[in-house]
Parts: sequence; C-alpha cells; structure tokens
Amino acid sequence: MCGIIGVIQEKGEVAPFIHQALRRLEYRGYDSVGITTLDTSRLFTKKDKGKIDEVHQMLNLDDLPGSIGIGHTRWATHGIPSMYNSHPHFDCNDEIAVVHNGVIDNFLELREDLIKKGHTFKSETDTEILPHLIEDFMNDGRSLKEALKMTTSLIEGTYAVVVMSTREPDKMVATRDGNPLVIGRQDKTSYVSSDIPAFLPVTNNMILLLDGELATLTIDGIDIEKLHNGQKVARETIKISWTADQAQKGGFPHFMLKEIHEQPDAIKGTLRLRPEIIEGAAKLISNADNLFFLAMGTSGHAAVAGKHMFASLGGVLPIVELASDFQDSVYDVITENDLVLAITQSGETTDTIMAAKYAKRLGARIVAVTNVVGSSITRLADHTIITQAGPEIGVAATKTFMVQLTSLAQLALALGELTAHQDPEIIAIKRSALEKMPKIVSRVIATEEEHARHYARLYYASPSMLFLGRGISIATACEGALKLKEIAYNHAEGYSAGESKHGPIALVQDNYPVIFVAPNDETRTRLIGNIMEMKARGASIVSVLEEGDGEIQSLSDSVFSIPRGVEPEFSVMPYIVPLQLFSYYMATLKGYDPDKPRNLAKSVTVL
Ligand code: AGP
Ligand code: GLU
Repeated sequence: MCGIIGVIQEKGEVAPFIHQALRRLEYRGYDSVGITTLDTSRLFTKKDKGKIDEVHQMLNLDDLPGSIGIGHTRWATHGIPSMYNSHPHFDCNDEIAVVHNGVIDNFLELREDLIKKGHTFKSETDTEILPHLIEDFMNDGRSLKEALKMTTSLIEGTYAVVVMSTREPDKMVATRDGNPLVIGRQDKTSYVSSDIPAFLPVTNNMILLLDGELATLTIDGIDIEKLHNGQKVARETIKISWTADQAQKGGFPHFMLKEIHEQPDAIKGTLRLRPEIIEGAAKLISNADNLFFLAMGTSGHAAVAGKHMFASLGGVLPIVELASDFQDSVYDVITENDLVLAITQSGETTDTIMAAKYAKRLGARIVAVTNVVGSSITRLADHTIITQAGPEIGVAATKTFMVQLTSLAQLALALGELTAHQDPEIIAIKRSALEKMPKIVSRVIATEEEHARHYARLYYASPSMLFLGRGISIATACEGALKLKEIAYNHAEGYSAGESKHGPIALVQDNYPVIFVAPNDETRTRLIGNIMEMKARGASIVSVLEEGDGEIQSLSDSVFSIPRGVEPEFSVMPYIVPLQLFSYYMATLKGYDPDKPRNLAKSVTVL
C-alpha cells in the first residue's frame, strides 16, 4: 500500500527530491501526502490530505530546509484522510518522525497504555503509537536503533517503517514486516523507499530489505542487521533494468495482472480485521427484519455470492438488489427495522450511495463494505467494514472483489455463530478453510496462468461466449463474463446454467465456447446435465473444475483445475481466478490496455 521515501544526503536541501520521489510513487494510490525534514536540530513538516499537486500548490512541498528527510503518501486504513492523520507522525516533543505503511493490529491497547503514561496523541491513526513508543525507549537511554527494535517487539501487524530523530540527526533507521522497503545508494546519498521508481532517476542499483531486518542509513553507507539478534547482513546489490513504468507495475506489464497476483495477500490482510468489526456488523444484521444487499457491477456479483454464504452459513436470506434500481423496486416497503448492506469497493458509486440514502430516509440502518477509508459510503453508514486490498489501480476490479468475498464470508460465519444456524463444529471447519484461502488462490494463480494464456489464444477469434454456473457459481459465471466484456470487448453472457436452456442455448452452434464453472458441490450432477446439452449442440466446453474430476474433464475441450476440498460457500474465490486471467490475456492478445478499458471509470459517480 502507498508510498514511503527517506533520503539522507551530505549537503543541500532534500525536500524537492522527496517531493518528486513521491510523485513517482503516486501510482500506488493514496489520499494524503506529507514530508518532514531535519535541519539544525529541528523537524520541519508539511502535510495534508489531497493529491500531491494540490498539497504542493497550497503548501509548497519544496520549501523545507535540511539534507535529511522522509516523505509519505498515505492510503488511510485507520482514521479518515485529514491533515492530522497524514504522515509523518511525531512523539510528544516533535523530536521523532515516523512514516509507516501497513496496519498495526494491536494499536488500541498500546495507545491506551501510552495515554496512561501521559503521552498525547494528535491523530486517529494506528501509526502514531510508533513515535511515542520510540520516545519512551529513547527516554530510557536507548539509541534510535535500539528503540525501534524494542518497538517492533511490541507491535503486531504489517509494517514498513522509516524513522528519524533530532536526537541522532546523522541517520535514519528503517525496518519492515509484511510491507516492502528497498534501499538505494549513490554518491554519499542513501535512499529507502517502498519501491524502486522513487530513486530510479539517480540509481538503478537496489538493495532489498527483508522482513525482520533493520537498516541504518547514513551519508557514508548502509548497515543491515537482523532484528532478533543484531547479526550483520551482507546483501548483494541488484541492478534494475526496468524502466520507471515497468518498475511501477512491480515488473508486471499491467496493474491488473499485478493486482490479480496480489489477491492472496489481500485476502490475508482482510482476514486479520479485528473480530469486533465483523461481529458488530453481524449483530446489526441479525436484529434486522429484512436484509438488503445493494451493489453494482462486480460488487453486485460479490453480493450474489454473499447471499449464498449468508443463507447456508448464517440462516439469513438477503434480498439482493441492483442499487441503481433499488428505489424503483422496493417503493416504500422498508422500515426502521430493516438493514441495508452496501457493497462498494470505491465507496463512491453514486447508484449505491443514492440507494443507501433512500433506505436511510425510510429509517433503515446501513452497514458498508468498502475498500476506501473516509469514502462517501462510510459517512452514511452506521457501521463499516474496511476491506484490506490496498489501492486498486486497474479499472477492472479483481483484488477488491476477492476481499469483498472474504468479508462476506467472515460475516456469514459470524452470523452462523450468532444465529446458531450451523453446528459450531461446522463453523470452525469452515473458518479454518477460509484461513487457507490465500494459499489456494496462490496455487491457482501458479498453475492456471499458463492455461489462461493458452486458452486466450485458442478462443481468440470467438466473438461471443456463454459463462454458466449453478447456485453460488452463477456469481462466478457473471463475474467471468463481465471481466471479458469490460477489458477484451467480447460479447459474453453470465447466466444460470439451469436457465440457459430457456433461451441462450439458441446461440449455441459448432465450436461456440461455453464456459462452465463446475466446483464439486451439490449442483455438480445437474451441471453435468447442462454440459451434455451444450455439447450435444456442438459447443466447445471450457470447464473450471475440481482437480481430478475425470467425469467433467472427459466432457470438456479445455479445463482449468482448482485444488480439491474448497468449501462450497467459498468457491467463488478460487474459481474466479482463472477467468480473471483468461480475460486479461484475451485483452492483451487483442492489443487492448486492460488497465484502462474504454468508456469505463474506476468509480462511477453518475446516475
Ligand atoms: C468492475 O470491474 C467494474 N469496473 C464495475 O462493475 C464496478 O464493480 C462497479 O462500478 C461498482 O463499483 P464499486 O464497487 O466501486 O461500487
Ligand atoms: N495504517 C496507517 C494509516 O492509516 C498507514 C496506512 C498506509 O499504509 O498508508 O495511517
């Protein structure tokens, strides 16, 4: 998530370089920006919410003294985007400055302890505990480096952190666990950043910092050591041959492909959400008379999948409505005992916001599932779940879909516990299956990417395709078809396999591709019937099936395989991955830019 840059140079002012480096990290997505420099034993800071250019216009980010400094672009996870919540953050005496990417899971208890000890906080962020903890350790006589080490032993979560202090003005220290940091070195200048483009114009030599390592940067060089035993690490320099554009995409040709590959981490991050957040939402839901799911596009497909999860695990049957048509469907048949779950990755989709406002006017409560802290939907909602995909740049939603599914699964499990609809043992089994999802999705990416590329070549010339599934797999089929439409501009229909014989089957003739989403759940036998029907009419069958399903494999011309034993309620998560990849390769094969499909915007703010 977001961007960090730290620079220490021999002489001259460092702020203009940091400002430009932050612009080179802009692609990572952010909502706020800030720079702190150190000069003659004082810290100087400029920070605010907004785009770099806007903040620069207001504050002049280049006008800060000193040859050592840190900069940050923030993607809010704790606390709305605001000046106070922007990084860097400081200790009580403005002597220690910290920038942080990631999430500190146990910040609430640490913050309470610090407040009891007399520390004062200026922001709502999890990050701000870091300078205060470092302050305490330095007040006990520890060096900056030791104080950071001690701090990392207290915190749980994911982080990349860079710290500097007026008490040791000749250095900066950096460490990480779960979030990236790379180091650069050129002519008596040391750099540390979340990503290479930040310092690529000055050097293409890079040193990786790994989890559990701490780096000390001075003008004379860089020292890396292991956090737990202080052992020195000798790390070789890597020469980067990427252009700035390639580097921004982490070596992937497009953001979409990068984001597909980030899905396992996105699920992991979302599974770590504090249980109270999910339980709070589940309580509100369990008290409602009627439950409506409102969403659009890909989020709408997550809603359809969520309906199955809620019914099967939670014993609650939501009414799924397209937000754009909500008011025209429900009229005024909503009361204050009803609840709306608004699912929107951007939190800004006007259709969804307007529908939620309408429901609120009639007295209903609103729970939001969104990926963006401080977005419009969070201001309307009584309770919000913030998914942890990090910024998604590609217009086609991939990893944000995955985390919506993750949160809906968590909610369904929490509901199951509350309503006692399922045996607690079953809930425990399902919960541990969900924990394994990052690994399963990772494996699907590893084994199926090549198949996706191959099938894209095979079906390149087909102008139209059907995507079929039954039960929860209708959501997978519809999402697979939407991805193909959006970025490869193929005509594609996502449909219920049961319904397909009532019309769409008329489209089918020799070699017409029909993609079946075929997990090994209760729908499998009936789905085989549908495969036969399509085959009998000459269709070319592509199946996304469970590894080792010889029967469906023998009926198929092409297959994608998904590991065995996926719980039926969570099948959309691994089964959508090959279809995302298929669309991606289809689009690139046709020469289209999948990150910026024509006529589409990342958040649709018109009705
Ligand atoms: C997804 O690939 C699309 N770009 C689109 O359907 C999107 O899901 C829809 O506009 C809803 O967006 P939201 O989740 O930000 O509300
Ligand atoms: N959790 C921190 C915050 O909300 C850091 C977010 C980031 O990675 O930018 O400020």
